[in-house]
Amino acid sequence: MSKLELRGIHQTFPGKKQRVSVLADISLHVKEGEFVSLIGPSGSGKSTLFHIIGGLVNPTSGEVWLDGVNVTGSKGLISYMPQQPALFPWRSIESNVALAQEVAGETRTDALAKAREWLPKVGLGGYEQELPHVLSGGMQQRVSFLRALLSPQELMCLDEPFGSLDALTRQDMQAWLLNIWEQNKHSILFVTHSIEEALFLSDRIYVLSNKPAKIIEELVIPFARPRQESVMLESKFQELRQYIQGLLRQEITYDKSH
Ligand SMILES: Nc1ncnc2c1ncn2[C@@H]1O[C@H](COP(=O)(O)OP(=O)(O)OP(=O)(O)O)[C@@H](O)[C@H]1O
Ligand SMILES: [Mg+2]
Repeated sequence: MSKLELRGIHQTFPGKKQRVSVLADISLHVKEGEFVSLIGPSGSGKSTLFHIIGGLVNPTSGEVWLDGVNVTGSKGLISYMPQQPALFPWRSIESNVALAQEVAGETRTDALAKAREWLPKVGLGGYEQELPHVLSGGMQQRVSFLRALLSPQELMCLDEPFGSLDALTRQDMQAWLLNIWEQNKHSILFVTHSIEEALFLSDRIYVLSNKPAKIIEELVIPFARPRQESVMLESKFQELRQYIQGLLRQEITYDKSH
């Protein structure tokens, strides 16, 4: 039984003249403890798909299954890091991190203790009592990431979690996430624009087409675990990178010609 299974998801939105199709028949799954990435052109519908998984948007058709149960349209069952950090401006950093745990039923004291324990591990020690506006975009992203990481649901959906970090911090965060994931083996669905990041982190990658998004390729990533940064130097890594780049380039060319 898969942790997550999407069955034939279609999504259309009202447009100026007619309805715009954003997702066209997306079926995919994430197994228990698996790390799966979605990679696709900008505007192809990846965040929309996450909104559907999280129950924030009801799909036009299709179903979301979690642990063998049809949960289409239900909220609160996954831990979700949105593309924009979405922190509460009036809550302190530690209290923002604690929020998802509190909503899930943890006591405030326990939730805050955990937030205080983990903030230094993402380089935010000393910022516990500050308000979000004091932090840079990348720091806010790390707060949002930590909030998702500490919430107790077993499926984490991360929408470009490292998108606004500088290259070195991004590498650190990738290695750090990999380390944590290898210890607790939560199931992860991960959106990224970086082919290298997807290859370095994932067990499997789905490549999406332009809008309306379809799955154009599913790749099983063969590198051993625990994964070392040195895999990036392997010829197989470069080969896969070029292959995915080719697929995405075709999509972008297609877009321009229409
Ligand atoms: N509520 C909505 N109403 C109308 N159109 C929408 C709505 N939500 C999303 N869209 C449209 O759906 C398309 C896909 O958007 P989405 O944010 O899912 O793309 P994405 O793949 O996450 O892009 P990016 O990689 O840039 O984050 C866009 O054209 C967007 O304008
Ligand atoms: Mg998006």
